[in-house]
Amino acid sequence: MSEDFPIRVEQRGAVAVWTIDRADRANALSRPTLLAFGKLAREAAANASIRAIVVTGAGEKAFCAGADLKERQGMSENDVRVQVALYRSELGPLDRSPKPVVAAINGAALGGGLELALCCDLRVAAAHAQLGLPETSLGIIPGAGGTQRLPRVVGEARAKEMILLARRLTAEEALAWGLVNRVTPAGKDVVDDAVEWIRPIAEGAPIAQAAALEAIDRSLDASLEVGLELEKVSYDKTIVSADRREALAAFAEKRKPRFEGR
Ligand code: COA
Repeated sequence: MSEDFPIRVEQRGAVAVWTIDRADRANALSRPTLLAFGKLAREAAANASIRAIVVTGAGEKAFCAGADLKERQGMSENDVRVQVALYRSELGPLDRSPKPVVAAINGAALGGGLELALCCDLRVAAAHAQLGLPETSLGIIPGAGGTQRLPRVVGEARAKEMILLARRLTAEEALAWGLVNRVTPAGKDVVDDAVEWIRPIAEGAPIAQAAALEAIDRSLDASLEVGLELEKVSYDKTIVSADRREALAAFAEKRKPRFEGR
């Protein structure tokens, strides 16, 4: 692990697996970790060999324990403001990624760690994972989008319960609340499980997937009328694609389509 670039990068077929490699600090988000996420997400957007991204943490204890509290000890008030701004600028590209991003939550996802998972499109959790936003118990509030993204996923009342009570959910509770999409079956590695589960994405039509993400993400706060208009704009991008024609040909020839992202 390099402290300058603390994310391990691996390619499994069409899936990029990014592992925060700071197990000795519970994979907390140091400044170099945030910068590494920003760099990787910006590069991945233009890399046709990456069809999906899985984000995880090293070891089994922590997915990510949020802010690096040891790094933060030495920071002035202004340093903290700069660091909080970095969450937005460097995790933003992951949130807006045209490729589907999946959090493989291998352990505790707390504070900024859960906020990182909330920047992802899908979340798969190991059975022993815990998820929470404990910031108010530390005299702060979630500052990497947690007060905004969590209510959009679980609803206002449950988000307030998690944030005000600093309540940690188990993986099964998170599944029941819709905070995670899937809990990995016992005895299986969460990253292996996530990569296998998203095979339809890795083998799917990238232009259609990016258009679907764009249509959903851009319209979440819009009226239905505006949302339908945005959907039309995104749909248009698929109409002109070779992948759409390939799917029609494959259907006619009773075979599996081969999507190339064109
Ligand atoms: N920043 C920096 N280091 C952290 C950290 C953080 N957010 N969270 C944990 N660590 C460090 C610990 O200090 C410890 O290092 P040490 O051995 O040098 O003391 C190491 O990571 C392992 O943590 P430990 O608590 O011993 O492991 P655990 O498996 O028992 O528990 C957690 C893991 C993540 C559940 C627990 O560390 C925790 O609750 N951390 C605080 C998370 C938090 O409140 N984050 C919100 C920030 S807003």
